[in-house]
Amino acid sequence: MKLPEKRDLHGTVVAVTGASSGIGLAASRLLVNHGARVVASARRLDRLSALVSELGEDNAVAYQYDVRDRNQAQGLVDKALQAFGRLDSLVASAGFGAYGSIMDHSDDLLEDMITTNIAGTLWPARASVKHFIANGGGDLVVVASVAGLRGGANEAVYASTKFAQVGLAGAMDRELREDGIRVSAICPAGVSTEFALGLGRVAGDSLLDALLQPEDVADAIVTVLEQPRRMRTTLWSMWSMAEQS
Ligand SMILES: NC(=O)c1ccc[n+]([C@@H]2O[C@H](COP(=O)([O-])OP(=O)(O)OC[C@H]3O[C@@H](n4cnc5c(N)ncnc54)[C@H](OP(=O)(O)O)[C@@H]3O)[C@@H](O)[C@H]2O)c1
Repeated sequence: MKLPEKRDLHGTVVAVTGASSGIGLAASRLLVNHGARVVASARRLDRLSALVSELGEDNAVAYQYDVRDRNQAQGLVDKALQAFGRLDSLVASAGFGAYGSIMDHSDDLLEDMITTNIAGTLWPARASVKHFIANGGGDLVVVASVAGLRGGANEAVYASTKFAQVGLAGAMDRELREDGIRVSAICPAGVSTEFALGLGRVAGDSLLDALLQPEDVADAIVTVLEQPRRMRTTLWSMWSMAEQS
């Protein structure tokens, strides 16, 4: 029997935004478990430092970074090059959501969501793509959402930011394939993380246990990165058995 080929992640370097919590944290752990080294980035340095201690300084380095600030995006790439001498992939997981009707929430919160989720994906993607083009290829995995495939009630602005991420990923896939760059949009339904706690989700709610786990999404991220470079996954939606699609 011919077994499927897998790309060995040992020695590769992956920058992860949103690594202080949830999906980005689980992805960082699983990537190191598969032999990759990670640049773990987010705003909360205490959490990133704890993650680096857990994973070991040979395997992980922290980059404290606010994805809304375009001037800090190049620093993510530079950190990878300084610490490990290369950058192979970016996992863009930083983002947040708030549930509620279109008339709920302040203008400031909605504007922050738009900036964080859209510009906060675009800036690190552009910095990484510039490096990937110069180095003959790379991988970009955008953690979007099923909210970016169909707008659900009580998530209008969040869904619009996730549609933007899916559009960005799809367009970049078509634009950058000839540069050897693979772009994947991973679209999970509900995941049990700190996401939207206090903004439509309640901490400790037993319903959260029935959702996808962050490790499920991390496994999808590792799976697309492990695919041989002759193929690419452009879009992956995933649901818990407990949720209606
Ligand atoms: N949980 C779900 O149900 C679900 C479903 C589908 C898609 N998603 C998407 O998955 C991604 C990760 O969410 P999660 O579920 O893992 O939530 P989470 O546990 O709340 O993690 C969010 C991460 O984003 C980072 N972040 C937020 N704003 C940032 C900023 N301005 N600059 C840098 N980092 C920032 C946070 O770090 P700091 O606060 O330390 O900066 C944190 O590491 C999001 O894009 C979300 O939309 C989540």
